[in-house]
Amino acid sequence: MRKLLIILVIGCITAGAALAQTARPGDAGLGDPYFPLLGNGGYDVQHYTIDLTADVEDNTVLATVTIDAVATQALSAFNLDFLGFFVADVTVNGKRVVYERDGREMTLFLKEPLDEGEAFTTTVTYFGVPGEGVADPYDVFGLGWANYGDGVFVASEPAGAARWFPANDHPLDKATFTFRITVPEEYVVAANGLLRETRAARGGMMTYVWETEYPMATYLATVNIGDFVRQEDEGPDGLPIRNYFPAQLAQRGTRVFENQPRMLALFSDLFGPYPFEAYGAVVVDTPLGFALETQTLSLFGREVLSVFSFGRDPQSVIAHELAHQWFGNSVSPASWQDIWLNEGFATYAQALWIEHERGAEALADYMRGLYAYISSPALQDPRIAAPGSPPPEALFNPSVYQRGGWTLHALRLRVGDEAFFEILPTYYQRFAYGNATTEDFIAVAEEVSGEDLDEFFRAWLYETEVPPVPEMGLPPVIEDEELEQAG
Ligand code: ARG
Ligand code: ZN
Repeated sequence: MRKLLIILVIGCITAGAALAQTARPGDAGLGDPYFPLLGNGGYDVQHYTIDLTADVEDNTVLATVTIDAVATQALSAFNLDFLGFFVADVTVNGKRVVYERDGREMTLFLKEPLDEGEAFTTTVTYFGVPGEGVADPYDVFGLGWANYGDGVFVASEPAGAARWFPANDHPLDKATFTFRITVPEEYVVAANGLLRETRAARGGMMTYVWETEYPMATYLATVNIGDFVRQEDEGPDGLPIRNYFPAQLAQRGTRVFENQPRMLALFSDLFGPYPFEAYGAVVVDTPLGFALETQTLSLFGREVLSVFSFGRDPQSVIAHELAHQWFGNSVSPASWQDIWLNEGFATYAQALWIEHERGAEALADYMRGLYAYISSPALQDPRIAAPGSPPPEALFNPSVYQRGGWTLHALRLRVGDEAFFEILPTYYQRFAYGNATTEDFIAVAEEVSGEDLDEFFRAWLYETEVPPVPEMGLPPVIEDEELEQAG
């Protein structure tokens, strides 16, 4: 009897040890060919809670980030992407863990391994000046959390999220977010999703609680702190629109952004229903020189409120960032090499807005101008010409945008309007709230059109030389009545 018990006990110990042995560290990356260290393997984040107090004057933050995740393998250790700051405390399931930092990788060593499929909670408490002392090999723009003196914005595409919070920093791992941001009471905070609560905090501070209903890629998370005025509007089907403008520029802002509901109606009609719980723009009181499609709340610099932002009509960039909510945010690139699936689509959406507003001739003129541009020596530079394989250090080069956009127009001329306007919503709906590759898009285009398009896409996306324009007449206008029926 006693012998049997001993054997049983030993058996259990060995079985336990055997189980534990299968636990191994999660990978330091998610296999992105352009940025192998972006994201981490072995777990899937469900939710981030970012509890953060910001001192705008000193440009410091104090934060606790809580990450709810599920292990996708038995884990003995795992990584977070995180750069800079002083780390005060790291826990997993409420217990302090040993960790190590090396560049953008932070490795957490688990005393008790996690089983595959096990849900677990990690917290990281940290403070400091965002970006201070940070040397990041993947730094394309050096942004992330940016303090411009009178306020803060956050713009992180492609790799800046890890510069302000610990994350699984790759669009393959989307999660929902809660932001609890505490600021001196003279400021207003605008972040992604819906504002759930504002409450007074100690010492003349205010806490703004924002929450996203839908999963979001880490680079699309944004927090904006400024003297904003909130302006409300309504999109199709009662979609809440909330815009945040600098107090002094609010009237101008209201006018410049007044077309958003009509743009929403057009794109919902062409691509599929708007994917998220709300939309709006935040305009920060500093010149940015770019805009970013931060989910549900696109980010613009104050130049968008001058007559010619970026040397062109601000309506174009407003349409562009809105279109990214479908292409980029709901359907996200599976790897950063696929960035033309974001920028080419958003650029062509600008053309669709022009066509809708000003007709087929205006579209043809616009596309002719772009064709001349993409055919210029500067854009046929072999280093950047092919939009399907941009250099990692020049992901956002003009060929990705303009030739990427022209690729869609060429597809439309090649397969005809009927097939083209079925390809867009079919692709969108198939990959909504997920990720897609260029191959996925080509497969949908071939399936819907019934044509073999490998050679067509190879020439447009992967060759230096710009292909000739497919032979077709001028495309017809999208009628307003059709839109109203759909809206
Ligand atoms: N996705 C952005 C756009 O809509 C581009 C962001 C480029 N970032 C930058 N810091 N310039 O075009
Ligand atoms: Zn864009």
